[in-house]
Amino acid sequence: MEKKELILVLDFGGQYNQLIARRVRECNVYCEVHPYNLSLETIKELCPKGIIFTGGPSSVYDEHAPKCCAELFELGVPILGICYGAQLMTDVLGGQIGKAPVREYGKMEVTFDTDSLLFQGNRSTSVTWMSHTDYIEHLADGFKVSAHTPSCPVAAAENAEKKLYLVQFHPEVVHTEQGVEILHNFLFRVCGCAGDWKMDSFVETSIQAIREKVGSGKVLLALSGGVDSSVAAALLSKAVGNQLTCVFVDHGLLRKNEGDEVEEVFSKSGMFHLNFVRANVQERFYEKLSGVTEPEKKRKIIGEEFIRVFEEEAKKIGAVDYLVQGTIYPDVIESGLGKSAVIKSHHNVGGLPDYVDFKEIIEPLRLLFKDEVRKAGLELGLPPHLVYRQPFPGPGLAIRIIGEVTAEKIKMLQDADAIYREEIAKAGLDREIGQYFAALTNMRSVGVMGDERTYDYAVALRAVTTTDFMTAEAAKLPWDVLERVTSRIVNEVQHINRVMYDCTGKPPATIEWE
Ligand code: XMP
Repeated sequence: MEKKELILVLDFGGQYNQLIARRVRECNVYCEVHPYNLSLETIKELCPKGIIFTGGPSSVYDEHAPKCCAELFELGVPILGICYGAQLMTDVLGGQIGKAPVREYGKMEVTFDTDSLLFQGNRSTSVTWMSHTDYIEHLADGFKVSAHTPSCPVAAAENAEKKLYLVQFHPEVVHTEQGVEILHNFLFRVCGCAGDWKMDSFVETSIQAIREKVGSGKVLLALSGGVDSSVAAALLSKAVGNQLTCVFVDHGLLRKNEGDEVEEVFSKSGMFHLNFVRANVQERFYEKLSGVTEPEKKRKIIGEEFIRVFEEEAKKIGAVDYLVQGTIYPDVIESGLGKSAVIKSHHNVGGLPDYVDFKEIIEPLRLLFKDEVRKAGLELGLPPHLVYRQPFPGPGLAIRIIGEVTAEKIKMLQDADAIYREEIAKAGLDREIGQYFAALTNMRSVGVMGDERTYDYAVALRAVTTTDFMTAEAAKLPWDVLERVTSRIVNEVQHINRVMYDCTGKPPATIEWE
């Protein structure tokens, strides 16, 4: 295979490492993130067009600070060091790092030397995002300053002859005004990249890599019908076809018609070649959930039962070589946090079956952000309704029904939710709102229908705008849309006689109701 253009990001533990990769890919240059201690031999084999050192929480003087070898700077490969990466480069090449007199954190006005290849085409002053306590006191030999702020004399520096560049600020974050241009300059002016990589290259490269890895082995995937596992399934099926078996556990807690839609795409449409197993275990889940009202207990039961069903199906298939997980990058960070309080026990992060006989896990989407996963999904030919599906929690509608879950309540909620989604889409709001759904409150109240008294359930409509799902605001839905949805739900769904709108943000509420 022809060697493709690659930018190598060496990860020194910074929180923005994947963001750097993403910015590079947005410039149509292929990029991989590897741990900082990747061996020199491997780096040479990868033959990158350029290397970027990420930031990181350490000080170069910490006992266990992540380091790199000096030979790396002799390869003739352009290197950009960011924040800790800049300090490390300086330290290894003989410069001096010290404690900054003032800790810089936040937006800082910086002055650039626009003759530098890194800042060409930029305005000479601009706002950058800084976050550092150490700073560069003396540059290594051969380096000269190319940017400064009032309190940081070396905001950027370079040894242009050796193609070594360093910036104390973070060009990858949105708060740095000309950050994209700076990375662009590094990629194109310094590294001489061609920029001809596209998402379909990701798809092609992954297919190729999966084929090489899997060979004639057997692969198993738990398909939830969500975006991530669907894209992973599509990718694997294109790579290894019938060597892949997808087990789709239909726990009966999906949205209206969703189980059939998943089966249609992956089994009946003929678009994908794979073995598709649908475990219709609705009744089994309803039984397990019978009489259970406590939210965390419901989550646990569903998570555990899901794994049991998957194991049973896997046993029927027998030993496999690989288990595929649709982990995407934000899952990697979130499940890595570890120390934060458990607000809700998330199902499908980290829950691995105990008794499935497999040798290795494959996570083909591990480096992608959600929108990149969607792009890959479209490339692979998945229908837009599946690719643009909203996030849907693993425990499904069970955590949108307050109190006990029954088949009757699920049906009610499915119908109300389908009406709500249909009207939101008709109003053209479906791509604007981060997440929206109906929840069935456990509250019943008195109403009047025709001349009859009713004593029925109240449904709550939720719609939030959010960028990261960690915080969210209630969406200001147009009143006429709410009116239409309300009128349709109370008219079309039996046993619902009241509709409410949830105006709470997150925090203090969460997005889901349980
Ligand atoms: P909360 O309710 O915690 O939801 O504000 C934040 C986002 O996470 C989704 N969510 C889940 N996703 N498994 C998932 O895969 C789960 O158990 C789960 N619980 C909540 C929720 O839909 C929202 O997008």
